[in-house]
Amino acid sequence: MKKIIIASDHGGYNLKNKIINYINKKGLDVEDYGCYSTESCDYPIYAKLVADEVSKGKVKGILVCGTGIGMSIAANRINGVRASHCTDTFSARMTRMHNDSNILCLGERITGEGLAFDIVDVWLNTEFEGGRHQKRIDMI
Ligand code: RB5
Repeated sequence: MKKIIIASDHGGYNLKNKIINYINKKGLDVEDYGCYSTESCDYPIYAKLVADEVSKGKVKGILVCGTGIGMSIAANRINGVRASHCTDTFSARMTRMHNDSNILCLGERITGEGLAFDIVDVWLNTEFEGGRHQKRIDMI
């Protein structure tokens, strides 16, 4: 079974829980790395928890904060992580096809749940094209 790991800060907590339910209904295994309430907390802690695991190459991750931006900045500091902040499905598709994105970042204060679910679907179901794009990733 395909496994996804997910985390948020307080700003992304509600959207994260909705995404967990959504992905679970699709029969995928989702592991929640926190946070576990809307109490204020620090997004870099949760970005690093997920990014460290994703950098091992076995699972993909989803990170949610208020904007999705802080999570993407923090996650991209970890070697081997290609975290993509997406607010539309075109970007979600292209970042899988061309960047082999391994972490999707979403912003609860930006993207409504309907669009967020579509973005998650596209991102999860689009394959990396490889070829010339692998060469470019190797240059990062
Ligand atoms: C928290 O208020 C907010 O700063 C955080 O969720 C995120 O948007 C940071 O980029």
